[in-house]
Amino acid sequence: MRLVFLALVAAQLSAATLYEPADGKIIFGAWVETEAASTVGPVTLGGDTPSAFNTRLGQNAGVFHMSQSIPLAISPFDQTQQTAPLNLLETTKTDAILFLTIYPSQTGATPYDLITDRDLQLLAWQLGNITDPTLSGRRVLLRFGPEMNGNWFAYGEQPTRYVAEYRRLVNAIRAVTRRVSFVWSPNAGNNYPFGVTRVADAELAALDTNKDGVFDSEDDPFSPYWPGEEYVDWVGTSLYWKGDAATGFPTKDNSRTPAGFFEQILQGSETLAVNRAYPFYTQYAERYKKPLVMSEGGAAFALYQDGPTATERLPVNAGQLAIQQSFWRSYLNTTLLRQFPRAKMFINFEHQKVFEDPLAGGTRGITRDYRITFDPAVLAGLKADLTALGATVQWAGPYVAGYDWLTGAGGPNNATAPAATSAPVKTDGPPATTGAVATTSKSDAMRSVTRVLVFGVWLALVF
Ligand SMILES: *[C@@H]1O[C@H](CO)[C@@H](O)[C@H](O)[C@H]1NC(C)=O
Ligand SMILES: *[C@@H]1O[C@H](CO)[C@@H](O)[C@H](O)[C@H]1NC(C)=O
Ligand SMILES: *[C@@H]1O[C@H](CO)[C@@H](O)[C@H](O)[C@H]1NC(C)=O
Repeated sequence: MRLVFLALVAAQLSAATLYEPADGKIIFGAWVETEAASTVGPVTLGGDTPSAFNTRLGQNAGVFHMSQSIPLAISPFDQTQQTAPLNLLETTKTDAILFLTIYPSQTGATPYDLITDRDLQLLAWQLGNITDPTLSGRRVLLRFGPEMNGNWFAYGEQPTRYVAEYRRLVNAIRAVTRRVSFVWSPNAGNNYPFGVTRVADAELAALDTNKDGVFDSEDDPFSPYWPGEEYVDWVGTSLYWKGDAATGFPTKDNSRTPAGFFEQILQGSETLAVNRAYPFYTQYAERYKKPLVMSEGGAAFALYQDGPTATERLPVNAGQLAIQQSFWRSYLNTTLLRQFPRAKMFINFEHQKVFEDPLAGGTRGITRDYRITFDPAVLAGLKADLTALGATVQWAGPYVAGYDWLTGAGGPNNATAPAATSAPVKTDGPPATTGAVATTSKSDAMRSVTRVLVFGVWLALVF
């Protein structure tokens, strides 16, 4: 009986994923253009910050996405290692989650071969420091090798190698800290395998999931890359609308996102895509009881097309507001959230991309704007829809130095905790001036502990 009890308690404990918001809550945030400002063709890129995003939105986003490579890139200017600009997150004075993407370096043809044990040790220490409550005390979700089922990164479509490297990275980090939550995040499966076909190579056996001898659109876009449930905390995906593919490549028709797009792409749709549907949510979030994150995503407003002699402005057609609002309404959507309750975090790709598709140095590429907090009409629409969701959206609370997310120690009663400053508007949690901590956002770890205790008492009574 004691064994049964312990096993049940262990099952309860493992059911709560690190940094997952409570059921019925979602976290919304962005991947902003933090690189130095520059002008490329007709647009200005970069120069954005998490603080500026919060100011535009009038809310403190609960998550910000940043990236770095492994091995770390070295600055050509001062030879420093290019880590993610954590200071820009500290500047928000909030407890926003850092969603950190680790890209295998793109400088060589065989990116995984470049990752040394020393590189992994440095990354593990960096994360140990970022997450340590006596240091930055920041919650981190870590995504290694995103969109590994696509062919656009040199590390892509190599599933057995990817799984080995993913596990190696997780093991190296866990040896230093248990405060990192790991995200496994393939690209959405629509139109997999993205124009690639392969008939003979070392990875074919893994890629050809239906074992018909060819790697094609009948094969499963995800399972070859699954590292195993003990290595994954969150399941994630990249999910974009760039226009109606039936109108030609590169897409630039500025048509609105189809209603229900998020669900259709998440679960696979044979009307929106040419390949067989493999329902990602059902197969991973539901089956393994993992929270789901849209690691990056958004709808593109096509601004310009690169021409042989000039840059052409493209027709706006449905217009930026309709295109992007129909995209976010497919997930900031009470029906969707009820049907897919494990969908708990959404990160807009708050970027412009210049001369995207074709990327390979050719002309006729499209400049696309995925940002939803710059155009005044788009921003007003977004704010209204977020407001309508009310307390479903869990905004960041003020940063509290010394707070321990795993134990709940060092929290709001710590006399040395700094008062929150420069917070935009606070709509949930306590007033920003108290320096207190929103109980809804801090209590995740405590809640699971309480749940186990309650469950234990119940079991003791029952047996
Ligand atoms: C912080 O980084 C240093 C190396 O720079 C490392 O020695 C130390 O163990 C790290 N701290 C944690 C808590 O991981
Ligand atoms: C909201 O989500 C549901 C479920 O996916 C979908 O049927 C509906 O079309 C969505 N609404 C919009 C505006 O996309
Ligand atoms: C209070 O916060 C400070 C950092 O501001 C930290 O050094 C200290 O350990 C915390 N005290 C407690 C009791 O948590």
